Amino acid sequence: TETEINTLKSAIHTIPDYPKVGIMFRDVTGILDDADAFKLTIDILADKFKDGGYTKIVGTEARGFLFGAPLALAMGLGFVPVRKPGKLPRATYMQDYQLEYGHDTLEIHQDALTELDNVLIVDDLLATGGTIEATTKLIRRLGAKVTDAAFVISLPDLGGEKKLEDMDLSVFSLLQYAGD
Ligand code: PRP
Ligand code: MG
Repeated sequence: TETEINTLKSAIHTIPDYPKVGIMFRDVTGILDDADAFKLTIDILADKFKDGGYTKIVGTEARGFLFGAPLALAMGLGFVPVRKPGKLPRATYMQDYQLEYGHDTLEIHQDALTELDNVLIVDDLLATGGTIEATTKLIRRLGAKVTDAAFVISLPDLGGEKKLEDMDLSVFSLLQYAGD
């Protein structure tokens, strides 16, 4: 409902000029440390995706873990982490992705998913979409199905939604911040 969305919006702190001048940083820690807002976030997402036939939630280090793991628990699903390099102990696949300056790598355990899995991706925020593009490639490399990605926040001006829709992902976000 609109009241619920306003409750969540009031829990997000906006920090101007962090980490750099001109950036408006949307800080989700205000949802995490507010028990009601945190539960509301997970409850809304669990209800929205309850009939999707998912077998696993995938969340990307680090902030994707904060929402992905509790959502998995709420939905009765397993959770699979996509991690930054060198953190996963078994055999992995790696995927490079672009950052604003330079690039980074994400990894998934090779045995974490199979072609029998239907994955819901969760992250805190969608900006350029590079993080979740790489995450999607890793999931598909394991043969699993993934058609949906859920975010607490999206920044529609940064093109992430288009990038993900171009790879046949539907994007859902609880809160949108446009125009800055
Ligand atoms: C942030 C955020 C998203 C990503 C969004 O993660 O948590 O994962 O950026 O940006 P994008 O759509 O342009 O890829 P970050 O890489 O800062 O790391 P963290 O989750 O470990 O804080
Ligand atoms: Mg992140």
